[in-house]
Amino acid sequence: MKTKWWHDKVAYQIYPKSFKDSNGDGIGDLRGIIEKLDYLESLGIDLLWLSPVYQSPFVDQGYDISDYYKIAEEFGTMEEFDELLEKAKEHHIQIVMDLVINHCSDRHEWFQKALKDPEGEYADYFYFVKGKNGNPPNNYRSYFGGSAWEQVPGTDKYYLHMFAKEQPDLNWENPRVRQELFEMVNWWLDKGIAGFRIDAIINIKKNLTFPDCEPDGPDGLRSCVHMVEEAEGIGEFLGELKQETFAKYDAFTVGEVFNMKESELEQFVGDDGYFSTMFDFAPHILTEGEKGWYDAKEAEFTEWKKTIIDSQLRCQGKAFLANIIENHDEPRGASRYLPEHAKTPDGAKMLGTISLLLRGIPFIYQGQEIGMVNCRMSDVNEYDDIDTYHQYQAALDAGCSKEEALEACCRHSRDNARTPMQWDDSASAGFTDGIPWIKVNENYREINVASQEKNPNSVLNYYRKLIRLKKDPKWREVFAQGEFIPFLEKDEQIFAFARRAETAQVVVLANFGIREQTVDLMRELGTVSEQMLLGNTERKLEIGETKVTLYPCDVVVLSVK
Ligand code: NOJ
Repeated sequence: MKTKWWHDKVAYQIYPKSFKDSNGDGIGDLRGIIEKLDYLESLGIDLLWLSPVYQSPFVDQGYDISDYYKIAEEFGTMEEFDELLEKAKEHHIQIVMDLVINHCSDRHEWFQKALKDPEGEYADYFYFVKGKNGNPPNNYRSYFGGSAWEQVPGTDKYYLHMFAKEQPDLNWENPRVRQELFEMVNWWLDKGIAGFRIDAIINIKKNLTFPDCEPDGPDGLRSCVHMVEEAEGIGEFLGELKQETFAKYDAFTVGEVFNMKESELEQFVGDDGYFSTMFDFAPHILTEGEKGWYDAKEAEFTEWKKTIIDSQLRCQGKAFLANIIENHDEPRGASRYLPEHAKTPDGAKMLGTISLLLRGIPFIYQGQEIGMVNCRMSDVNEYDDIDTYHQYQAALDAGCSKEEALEACCRHSRDNARTPMQWDDSASAGFTDGIPWIKVNENYREINVASQEKNPNSVLNYYRKLIRLKKDPKWREVFAQGEFIPFLEKDEQIFAFARRAETAQVVVLANFGIREQTVDLMRELGTVSEQMLLGNTERKLEIGETKVTLYPCDVVVLSVK
């Protein structure tokens, strides 16, 4: 593939509400992020994705934007944003904003004007569609449960909302909407941000016939995700979006893309794709329930490994994915993917090594670098997430007891990853002087940045070494461009792959099993190890070794010849 400026970068995601509160209101803010730029620089990250910081009523925690040109009061001011942008650059960090343009908030001026005049021009900024015999236009279910249609007061029309009813979908068929959005995107790019993470972008194309569908649940509704899968012609919108905005700035873009048609991979993220990259959600989808969190299965090592390997091979030479362990919509990876015996700091290092050294651009989610884990809540009211409430109810509706429904949330809730960043062992983990907006994980005295700073073997210091290795001029090319070569694919304990470029070859070996195991590099790859570049064990490998013994939770990165 053509080399791009972002191919060798490491990205970090901040969930601003939970990162660092500077003014004691219990909510993280921009000033808090500015205060932590030294920390972020010390990690070695290049790109900083901020989950939405725009003005919002926070029905969906900022993914419901009421003004794209304003910063939410809770987070600070536009002056502070500009300061963050400037200071981040001084720390060699570029900002990536969240771009939420499938929908806006019902408090947005456009929607308010549309409600005032349902026959006027702003109604056409949304999908205002006539109902059928007093019912919604069809039986789509929104992602957060219930009909995807809400009646426009005083009319026989309904507006479409694929997410919450407070998140009306924007009508991309309307050229004026596209124009307004492109102007806004360019306004942010003109400020000097590096680019965008693009929310729910596959949803912008609808099947405008809104057909009645075969229900897929007892509520008589059918998930609107089927519309996404069936809708044709999204490419025109995405091509235009790129040409009118990102391309002019050589911006970095990462799409949140589910349900893409496989044949469209290169159009999406190939050399000249609509986006620079998109997240690889395959391992996450693997452990999602068919009906909801309550019927989600546990991650099984060989299946999980195979899913990652398949994604890597599918994209080799064609596309460049963004690899994550977790994000603000997913539970913590250390709780989800590690087998019981490996839910330890060494396990977290092993998981991080795999994620960061795969082919693609790694995104670290805040707290991952100290091994943060899921947070148990003792009551559903401790959550502050619209999706968690919906999933809890779905579990009850399916016949689960309250305990079972809560258990499903403890395992899968998005709030698992949204609890405050654990900075130190003082009250509220040093996140705030006030009352945190959501519970702090009770384990903050054991897992926090301050204590890990002092410990050379901590997960945090391991991540620093890992990132340093990935960016070391000697290895940079092999990690950025090198081919991905899996081996021992059927092995039930070892995750093994090589990265090969003209200049170098490295091997990553991790033992997820409970027994020690020896890997014969000569037999598997016809190579010997030259040097141990990184590992989470004290043991040293000798130059020229062909066999490597790994104890449970050991991970090593070797240069080989
Ligand atoms: C994906 C975002 O990551 C998620 O948090 C949000 O609820 C939906 N899109 C809707 O914007």
